[in-house]
Amino acid sequence: MNILHIDSSPFTAGSVSRELSAMIVAELCARHPETTVTYRDLGVTPPPHLSAAAMSLLHNAQEEVITPQLQAELDGIYQSIEELTACDVMVIGAPMYNHAIPGNLKAWIDQVCQKGKTFRYTPQGVVGLIPGKTAYIASARGGVYSTPETLPHDFQEPYLASILELMGVKDCHIIRAEGVSRQAIGREKGLAEGREMLLQILNA
Ligand SMILES: Cc1cc2nc3c(=O)[nH]c(=O)nc-3n(C[C@H](O)[C@H](O)[C@H](O)COP(=O)(O)O)c2cc1C
Repeated sequence: MNILHIDSSPFTAGSVSRELSAMIVAELCARHPETTVTYRDLGVTPPPHLSAAAMSLLHNAQEEVITPQLQAELDGIYQSIEELTACDVMVIGAPMYNHAIPGNLKAWIDQVCQKGKTFRYTPQGVVGLIPGKTAYIASARGGVYSTPETLPHDFQEPYLASILELMGVKDCHIIRAEGVSRQAIGREKGLAEGREMLLQILNA
């Protein structure tokens, strides 16, 4: 089994999503000893936002002068797509930022979510081109968004599940540590609940 392990919190110390994603990867590796892990740290090394030149080349195949800078951007995009297509399982550390995801994770999604490479349009609608994979989202939130009142404000987990489904990844599991900034819950209880969610999913 090949795991693509992604973290996107800019905080390397004390990050809840990093601890949760590492917990998921460790548990998967313990259950599948033959596993190989490719690690991408989007928090420490954020991918660049797509440039107009790269988008022209990727989306419309328009001719562009390939400068060394554009070539480096394209190489990064192709590497991200290659890592994604090569994995069987992805584990994505995803903090909630302003009801959504951090910009560095969005920049990675903009890199890998490419027409003709990871999805395509057909007369019947969008078809994902990387099916058969499993995703685990290590979701960390300061507040609580899983109640009926707060759910409409959650553009983090539903967005990630939606964009993965667009690429054909339908087997998507949310492992959540929420309320980590709340006194009533806090970091350790949030993480313990995340671990409980993980074990329930893996033992099902
Ligand atoms: C810029 C920023 C925006 C945030 N926005 C939200 C938010 O909208 N809702 C929420 O519940 N927590 C929010 N938080 C809190 C984080 O989701 C929480 O601290 C989480 O643990 C971050 O993940 P990390 O510990 O892996 O860095 C925000 C934190 C930051 C730094």
